[in-house]
Amino acid sequence: MLIVGINAYHGDGSAAILRDGQLIAAVEEERFRRIKHWAGFPTEAICTCLEMAGATAADVDVFAVSRNPRAHLWRKALFALRRRPGASLVADRARNLQTVRRLPATIAETFGLDERHVASRLQYVEHHPAHLASAFFVSPFDEAAVCAIDGFGDFVSTSSGTGRGTRLSVEQRVFFPHSLGLLYLAITQFLGFTSYGDEFKVMGLAPYGSPDFVHELQQLVSVSVDGDVRLNLPYFSHWSGGATMTWDAGEPKLGSVFAPRLEELLGPARQRDEPVTARHQAIAASLQQVYEESAFRILRAVHARTRQTRLCLAGGCAMNSVANGRIRANTPFQNIYVQPASGDNGTALGAALHAWHAAGGRRGFVMEHGYWGPSFDDAAVGGAIAARRLEVDQRAQQTVMADPQGLCDWTAERIAAGLVVGWFQGRMEWGARALGNRSILADPRRPDMRDIINTRIKFRETFRPFAPSVAVDAVDGYFVGAVPDPFMIQVYPVRPEKRSVIPAVTHVDGSGRLQTVSPATNPRYYQLIEAFRRRTGVPVLLNTSFNENEPIVHRPSEALDCFLRTDMDVLVMGSHVLSKRPS
Ligand SMILES: [Fe+2]
Repeated sequence: MLIVGINAYHGDGSAAILRDGQLIAAVEEERFRRIKHWAGFPTEAICTCLEMAGATAADVDVFAVSRNPRAHLWRKALFALRRRPGASLVADRARNLQTVRRLPATIAETFGLDERHVASRLQYVEHHPAHLASAFFVSPFDEAAVCAIDGFGDFVSTSSGTGRGTRLSVEQRVFFPHSLGLLYLAITQFLGFTSYGDEFKVMGLAPYGSPDFVHELQQLVSVSVDGDVRLNLPYFSHWSGGATMTWDAGEPKLGSVFAPRLEELLGPARQRDEPVTARHQAIAASLQQVYEESAFRILRAVHARTRQTRLCLAGGCAMNSVANGRIRANTPFQNIYVQPASGDNGTALGAALHAWHAAGGRRGFVMEHGYWGPSFDDAAVGGAIAARRLEVDQRAQQTVMADPQGLCDWTAERIAAGLVVGWFQGRMEWGARALGNRSILADPRRPDMRDIINTRIKFRETFRPFAPSVAVDAVDGYFVGAVPDPFMIQVYPVRPEKRSVIPAVTHVDGSGRLQTVSPATNPRYYQLIEAFRRRTGVPVLLNTSFNENEPIVHRPSEALDCFLRTDMDVLVMGSHVLSKRPS
């Protein structure tokens, strides 16, 4: 049975493909369109998934879409009657509904199929069950509590329940307009980070500040002991018609979701080009604290209801890696699984899995790594280099190193010598994090490396931290209380005695968002880390995504372009190696 999962007309459009319950491929549309968080219909992602499965659209048994326009209709009607939202919000919702209802026609037109054929194979899976399915059904657990926390999807912002075998039961929901994700978004916008998906910047800023605004921010949200979330609505505008989401040319844009009254509480909002001050840092720190208190309260309520000690977490808020790393210390949950695409990208996977189990399919797939995108062989890499031969010859020396051990030894030597390396290998990552296949790598021992990469290559805010990739056997030696995490989605304290050993990946508060690397799931990357360990005694590399203010590179040509336009020193793509000449 072939199932294509689709996240369309929502941030982070994506597709995933399952054959008989086994994941074949999963990829985000932004990687093809080269627009971050691309939000239209994910044509390229679907085509790539089909190609990787060796199938055509006519072979697909189910198109599972992670939206259900019919979900919670009476609640939506009741909300409209009670709150009388503004005309712009109503028009925005109506437009959205119309686009989703046209999906059978869109799929049919895109792939040359009959519309009735598509309609008979199309399943609408509600957004939150898709989130929950995306975590639980690929987790190693037969039974676990499940929880999704996000902005909104199909009128819901938080859902939780229990997963057992092939069944998911949703036992509690928080409905629009109340949302913990929306609180984080509102303060992110207030702090002048107004692009879609900027919340992680505020999370990175938080450790610089002291939480002086906790009392004020606590006035914005409350969470009851049974996990119900309430926003203090006069501080927000999303419910009254002030904020709409658009995706002209695929780029998602959100209107402001905070009301002018928020400035009475916190002072003037920061404009996006204004400097970041101590007040902004303090607001970020306070938000992170209030968010964590609220999220842990929700999770404690989930535990009280389910009595499970395992938790599968999903939704955009599950990208809050700082909070994730503290769940075990602040709730009774002891085993936590967060799938690498825990944001809306992951709902494509969740919708497909939901459809598979609804059709009686068995469990039998555990996601142990994040490499579900396309790969390119040495011939394709060589072709991309040849296409820019003149420029490459002027700027770099080219070699081919067919022996993987020799390649890793040579690369580790360059990293240890302080060079910045673009590392492009194997299948592209699924989810927002680069996990050693589309990564920029550097020496974590050098205190100046963070500034070098931020100012010479990534051109981004200097407060943002870089992450460590660590050999799985060395986690305890470098981090306090950490568990193996191949998806880089939990933050833990770096051991105090190791902070001066790996300063470039130790954040200002002494923490690190680690990725554990094992020979079983990424043998080449592990081999490289081992080669670095042999030279330096340190089994850690600085790992940041291979991009420069753009989606992570997908094809060799994009990696080469990024290498040539920035001050990156070395590019390793498959067996091909380019070293920049001194300028
Ligand atoms: Fe969501």
